[in-house]
Amino acid sequence: MQPKFAYTPWEIVEEGFDPRTLRENESVFALANGFIGMRGNLEEGSAAGSETIQGSFLNGVFDSEPIVYGEKAYGYAKNHETICNVMDAKSLLLFADGERLDLGTSAVEAHRRVLDLRAGTLRRSFVWHTRAGAVLRVESARLVSLRRTALAAVSLKVSCLAGACTLCVCSPLAPAVVAEGDPNDPRNAAGKDRSLTPGAVEAEGQTLYMEQRTKRSGFVVCCAVEHRGVAGSARTEDAAALWSAEQRLTAGTGLTLEKSICYQAQRGQDAAPAKQTRALCHAAPDFATLCTEQQAALDAFWEGAGLSIEGDDALLQGLRFNLFHIYQSAGRDGRTNIAAKGLTGEGYEGHTFWDTEAYILPVFLYTDPALARKLLESRYATLPQARARAREMGHPKGALFPWRTIDGEECSAYFPAGTAQYHIDGDVAHAVLAYLDATQDTDFLADCGAEMLVETARLFYDLGFFSAAKDGRFVLNCVTGPDEYNVMVNNNVYTNCVAEETLRGAAAAMERLQRERSADYARLCAALDFRPEEAEAWRAAAEKMYYPAPHDGIVPQDDGFLERRPWPLGTIPPERHPLLMHYHGLNIYRGLVCKQADLILAMTQYGERWTMEEKRKNFFFYDSVTTHDSSLSMAVFSLLANEIGETGTAYDYFMSSARLDLDDMHHNTKDGLHMANMAGTWTGLVRGFGGMRFRDGVLSFTPVLPPQWQGYRFRVRVRGSCVELCMNAGGPACRLVSGPPVTVKLNGTSRTLA
Ligand code: BGC
Repeated sequence: MQPKFAYTPWEIVEEGFDPRTLRENESVFALANGFIGMRGNLEEGSAAGSETIQGSFLNGVFDSEPIVYGEKAYGYAKNHETICNVMDAKSLLLFADGERLDLGTSAVEAHRRVLDLRAGTLRRSFVWHTRAGAVLRVESARLVSLRRTALAAVSLKVSCLAGACTLCVCSPLAPAVVAEGDPNDPRNAAGKDRSLTPGAVEAEGQTLYMEQRTKRSGFVVCCAVEHRGVAGSARTEDAAALWSAEQRLTAGTGLTLEKSICYQAQRGQDAAPAKQTRALCHAAPDFATLCTEQQAALDAFWEGAGLSIEGDDALLQGLRFNLFHIYQSAGRDGRTNIAAKGLTGEGYEGHTFWDTEAYILPVFLYTDPALARKLLESRYATLPQARARAREMGHPKGALFPWRTIDGEECSAYFPAGTAQYHIDGDVAHAVLAYLDATQDTDFLADCGAEMLVETARLFYDLGFFSAAKDGRFVLNCVTGPDEYNVMVNNNVYTNCVAEETLRGAAAAMERLQRERSADYARLCAALDFRPEEAEAWRAAAEKMYYPAPHDGIVPQDDGFLERRPWPLGTIPPERHPLLMHYHGLNIYRGLVCKQADLILAMTQYGERWTMEEKRKNFFFYDSVTTHDSSLSMAVFSLLANEIGETGTAYDYFMSSARLDLDDMHHNTKDGLHMANMAGTWTGLVRGFGGMRFRDGVLSFTPVLPPQWQGYRFRVRVRGSCVELCMNAGGPACRLVSGPPVTVKLNGTSRTLA
């Protein structure tokens, strides 16, 4: 079978036009810079006969709406937060002698789109045979600037190859067309009022300007557009602003147009930042300069995140595509985060989950630590809401981070698989600790990290108790682990593991602060009302943390897990997956079945707790009861398979996750790309096949080479050094790419790279 995209390692190339793949490709071809996100919509918007999902998003800009419950009870999440689809500025409509370009009806040949992972651009070209007999070559390009947060740009070149026509280019700035969504899919943002209130609309000469306001959350969004290269005129029409230009083209002539787009958003202020938006747009450099800057930004990223696979271009393309997209979508301002679908679609309403800390952050931690810090800062910014939520949930101390949110408020209307996932606090704490270990950034410890650790430790300490029924051990009851098919359980192993790490890590962090930054320590003791005895209590709880005892070597994922009714996966017809779409929750929760990696994740993250034999046995058992209905699952199974020496199984799982979105394996790429899975594939290569670990200042690798590849290489950054691991049939080798000398353990042997 012909692959959907040719396996070009640095590009995603769409040849021709298939109306059936328009929506999913709009996600694949999305561009973003951590603030602005634009779906890969065609410049002319839609194509007759195909469905499209238009999208322009600004990270963190959402509207809220009260959640309407049939039966409401105390402490239920109060409001939806839904990412806004803001005014569309990227479109360019073409009319030749009155005929509107439309891929569904026009005679178009050689249609080609290229997402360039090094240049950070989406380029498109085709030849249009107009009904009146002209032949036009159309080339366009789009970028969302990685160096200038507020800017995006589009360029257009139309060349007349034969005949003649009067070409009209029309550039609208218009309120978004909000897609309907699927009301039966809980992962979809259907049914929410997502429209924005129109504000000022202006059109003058070469420029357009528009404001919109959210209905309830107090955001004002401004957008300015400026056209260069062709003289046109602007006007307003209903709720839109329109710029257009007309030019007579004869064979051998053409036109070149550039448009700069500037978005700004502000919350809680009446006045819109109109002047600033216009000024930034006006000051935008030309398209070529933006391209040069874009290339430089991506060169810097790939310098630290570079990887390659010899012998499998399809895989290499998938891995680079995945890295490119998580890099594009991550918030960079210490206030905004990364949504489960990034800035590529409205799936999961634009919410941030544990995906950030558990899957995405580890990638940036070792490729772009400054970006990892920004993501942690954005979690820190939501501490006030997390504290308030903890009180509401009956915890006198500590902070409870929300299961899903944009702004820090819990938005999960289904608490059994939402709020009950208390492990989110441990995921945040784990990420803080890993960041501190990888960077030694004690400023972060003093400014944010210590406070996050103290508040999450307090929460776990208050959640658990020393249970007489469990021999005085510290238990955590009625929580949901990562696996959403087993809810409100006692002593979920993964949760207890992250809680133990949090309790110990918080105690150690406060001691470190006392030793190394006494003034900050004193300040925090006062601000948080912290006393060393509190840390002693955390340590005692960690020491006594309870873990369910194995039965015949099988570690139960939680206390009651092995008592559930067996539900052999072979008896579930393929069309009834994912189970959550076809069975009532109660039905699922009674079964011995998992949605995703849970105990397996614990075994990869806290590997020292189990022997290799235990890991093997549990891998095969959990493999037989897991549906992988969550895209977060397979990459983790691949990791553990590698650890237990099942390279073949590791390879299969890895391959099923590496191109999940490129090949639309979950049939919902149209709603946005699966960021956590994309990040998980990096981890699958680096930690899985490369066996990379970094702990207590020691970087180590234990690489294996699957027989399908001739070799692979990747780079990681730790404590200011960039190290490259190269593995091939000749064996592994390491080199220092940049930074200070670093000691590396390769298959158990230590060596200093200089
Ligand atoms: C998974 C969660 C994940 C969420 C967002 C769900 O399907 O079960 O673990 O956080 O998707 O990606």
